Amino acid sequence: MNLVDKLKKKAAWAALDYIHPGAIIGVGTGTTIFYFIEALSTIKDIIYGAVSSSNTSTSLLQKQGIQVFNLKNFNSLTIYFDSADEINHQMQMIKGGGAALTREKIIAAMSKKFVCIVDKSKIVNVLGRFPLPIEIIPMALSYVSKEIIKIGGQPKYRKNIITDNGNIIIDVYNLCIKDPISMEKKINSLPGVVTVGLFAKRRADIALIGTKSGIKVIRKMK
Ligand code: 5RP
Repeated sequence: MNLVDKLKKKAAWAALDYIHPGAIIGVGTGTTIFYFIEALSTIKDIIYGAVSSSNTSTSLLQKQGIQVFNLKNFNSLTIYFDSADEINHQMQMIKGGGAALTREKIIAAMSKKFVCIVDKSKIVNVLGRFPLPIEIIPMALSYVSKEIIKIGGQPKYRKNIITDNGNIIIDVYNLCIKDPISMEKKINSLPGVVTVGLFAKRRADIALIGTKSGIKVIRKMK
């Protein structure tokens, strides 16, 4: 296992400390969350079950014998665990590298606590080095791409990806996102955009960062 994966795994296992008995756990998507689901399986008898942000995570959870509930039956959750492609010091994130951004954003919005699990390579001062994913309705591809160019980004259609919601993804290169909240609002307001992978308004509450010397915990400042 390479160092990055080791650090992802370390942070994922540290997340177990934040789980209370009887809880329904919101579960994100991605390689870090793969390790989290492995860890979660070791305490599966003390949790009630999970809700999942993707078909991939649903099958991983079910393979581990963890019951997955349909999100539509809930209007709030106590806790959500997910990773990020980038996270800044204000706990704002770029997500969607795994194309699950829309369901992730829904679960993040309805959760009282968002615990972001990352290895230290994900920490940045300014968001935007990682291409910003946007889930869009397929027929809006050209229009949204044109509007993204107007705000200084370089959109690239992500080939061979259909999201769990039946949509497509564009990844936006060369953005230096100095004001993530207004950028999130601006892109979300374009017709055809389902979700932009900027998690700025609803940022993380706690970040568990896997480093060589251990787990660093950062809490959101009010
Ligand atoms: C999926 C996500 C993931 O959290 C993000 O891509 C990080 O993934 P990984 O844990 O594989 O580095 O947003 O849509």
